[in-house]
Amino acid sequence: MFLWCYTATVLVLLSAGWCERLPPHLVSSSPVHLEKSFGRHSRLNQCHYMLRHLQDGDRISVHMPPDIAGHWVSDSCEVRSGPEFLIRSYHFYSNHTFQALQFYYRDNHCLEPSYTLLTQGTIHPRQASWVVRGGTEADFQLSRVLLVSHTPAAAEELQVKLEQSCGLMKRLDPGLSYELWADGSEHSSRDCTRGLDFSMQELQLLRMERRHRHGDPTTDAEELFLGDVHTEHAQRRLHKPSGYQPPLQSVKTYDASCVICQIVSEADLYNPPVLPSQNDRPLRLYGNWVSRRCEVRPGVLFLTRHFVFYEDSNIWEGHYYHFSDPVCRHPTFSISARGHYSQGVPSTVVMGGTELTFTVTHMKVTPMDMATTSILNVFSGDKCGKQGSWKLGVQQDVTPTLGCAALGIRLPHTEYELFRMGRDSAGHSLLFNGQRPTNGSSPDQPHKRATSYQPPLIHCISSQKGSTGIGKEGDHHFRLGNGYKTLDQHLVFIIVLVKLVFWSI
Ligand SMILES: *[C@@H]1O[C@H](CO)[C@@H](O)[C@H](O)[C@H]1NC(C)=O
Ligand SMILES: *[C@@H]1O[C@H](CO)[C@@H](O)[C@H](O)[C@H]1NC(C)=O
Repeated sequence: MFLWCYTATVLVLLSAGWCERLPPHLVSSSPVHLEKSFGRHSRLNQCHYMLRHLQDGDRISVHMPPDIAGHWVSDSCEVRSGPEFLIRSYHFYSNHTFQALQFYYRDNHCLEPSYTLLTQGTIHPRQASWVVRGGTEADFQLSRVLLVSHTPAAAEELQVKLEQSCGLMKRLDPGLSYELWADGSEHSSRDCTRGLDFSMQELQLLRMERRHRHGDPTTDAEELFLGDVHTEHAQRRLHKPSGYQPPLQSVKTYDASCVICQIVSEADLYNPPVLPSQNDRPLRLYGNWVSRRCEVRPGVLFLTRHFVFYEDSNIWEGHYYHFSDPVCRHPTFSISARGHYSQGVPSTVVMGGTELTFTVTHMKVTPMDMATTSILNVFSGDKCGKQGSWKLGVQQDVTPTLGCAALGIRLPHTEYELFRMGRDSAGHSLLFNGQRPTNGSSPDQPHKRATSYQPPLIHCISSQKGSTGIGKEGDHHFRLGNGYKTLDQHLVFIIVLVKLVFWSI
């Protein structure tokens, strides 16, 4: 949903958090040092509890550079822009070679395999990323790409594509492998991977998280995040990742409840995984939804989200908590938005998706660090709340000034959205909304509507009736706790001028 495309020139203050990624060492997160002020009902509010405790239930540690050797698999049927439905199964070996399997499907539940790609090559993790804090950059080189189609229909479709793109003469037969590209082979001048919008740019950005469950190291779970894939197919080959795809699970440590992990780990080039059959779940927005993790947005932003949908009135609220660090401990600012949304219509483009239109009419902003406070005071003039009146930790309504020029937010604002429902392996309801265009634009026209999704939100229960913040001054914003003191003590005053693209929903 909403993007606040704040193409403002912003002073960014690099806090102590940035330093932790420089030397290759173990970076550990500790419990969130924030106290939120959510009004009288906070103790009964599961949503706020879940947001506040994103990190402390499972302690997360991040190894930099990551030791990625092992077998990693998808835990769901993934959706890329287009749409493409796929499952990944990647082997990284300790001699720096890898074998990556990508299984492609006709349907959104990954029941009907159409073709599989096997990519071989070498990969070397390098230095900490300057694009995405907490990530590690890597160099990779491909040595070979093989294709196997699984049905006559898929073979025929691929044949047409490859004849056009690389003058393929050979006949593709289902169940037989075909070399699309190989380093040093006689065909290497003829790159047949182009016709499939194929790219392995995702290997340029890595992050490995280890979750320590209940202090018992034998139950630690490992997840591998690889770089994002550009939402525009033509840009995929040149894209430098600035975010992540859904994490892959380590075959050694995945949770026993992950039936999909088990199925995927046993698949190979000729035997693609077929996931357990399920129905599309009807879209039921009503209620509260919160982030499951600290989410990454292109640029230097980390955030958590909380949506509330009031079904009878078609009113929605979104609360966006922005942070400067990859474990969401150092808040920078928060935004509360409110508006209405349309009835959903089944998507004719994305199987299993529902199209909606969202409008924001009201908005409040709370600066949560000194840098954001000064930006708002210095740059906003009379187009963002009351001039010069911004104070650290104090919320202001920017509806009367029709948004906030310094943050690039104009009200009212309309976006064309794509939603779907899902379920995690423990049976909790999940809500997915559309991936934002990678180029930073806003899906403010129907043809810009997403064809893939952002990380899911999980359903939660809030005891609060009516507005959870909008219209109630001082309610529902982060109050600075120890987190800020830590920041203050270690403050590294590197002030940089950057052109920032901030993201929300
Ligand atoms: C790297 O290790 C893998 C698995 O042990 C092995 O199959 C492969 O041949 C090795 N490659 C090289 C170049 O040594
Ligand atoms: C950004 O992407 C959108 C949709 O993917 C496209 O419609 C738009 O033209 C692009 N804008 C720029 C400036 O490239």
